[in-house]
Amino acid sequence: MAKPIIVANWKNFPHSLPEARALLKSLSKKKALFAKTGFFIAPPAPYLELVSQSFARPASQDLPMETQAPQTGALSPEILKSFGVRLAILGHSERRALGESSQEVADKVKASLKAGITPLVCVGERSRDADGEYFSALEEQIIGSLAGLSKKEAEKIMVAYEPVWAIGKSAGEAIEPQDLSEALLFVKKVLSDRFGRKSAEKVPLLYGGSVEPRNARALLESGVSGFLVGHASLNAKAFQGIVEALFEK
Ligand code: PGA
Repeated sequence: MAKPIIVANWKNFPHSLPEARALLKSLSKKKALFAKTGFFIAPPAPYLELVSQSFARPASQDLPMETQAPQTGALSPEILKSFGVRLAILGHSERRALGESSQEVADKVKASLKAGITPLVCVGERSRDADGEYFSALEEQIIGSLAGLSKKEAEKIMVAYEPVWAIGKSAGEAIEPQDLSEALLFVKKVLSDRFGRKSAEKVPLLYGGSVEPRNARALLESGVSGFLVGHASLNAKAFQGIVEALFEK
């Protein structure tokens, strides 16, 4: 089996460089454990250098849309690459909540591929309804966020299924493994219909939304290729607990 992919999404934490350094130091005590995974940390940009010098691979939490024009406040793919970034989280629900559209996500996916950075495209419904109507919103989001991609390009992306209602809660409020299996099948079907089965099969599907030590193993067994971990990745003990759970005999 391929190594599970674990991406720590630090969002806008920890609050200071010394805290980030201390967190990395604690995590590095379990370096050998993390080495059993494809391990990335997506820190706030000012901590990229620190992460790039650690045992983790650095990832970006976003990317600018392609432009040659000067853009105050933006980072370029070239800057990110110079810190070793080869993976970018795109279309996270917290960015979509700020107004990022699926078309903008699709443009960033293109720019990312062009720059040689693997896009990790986040999709997920805001809420669920008993009639399953959320499936059509999810489908629309997937298709929209991958608009304009060729089959060959689609084979180079990763997708994170992150139901918005399950983000930032606790394991008890996260998705149930059987619901995750169902959602994964749906995402795979949408990708297959759009890009063909052969290409769709090459896309690793991650899950994100309140992954903690006590639900990690069962969620992995639902067939995901790995996890995008938010709050638990900021707590060394909890984060190690997640990875340990994946390899428990
Ligand atoms: P969470 O965040 O693990 O805190 O739910 C996941 C994410 O937002 O990517």
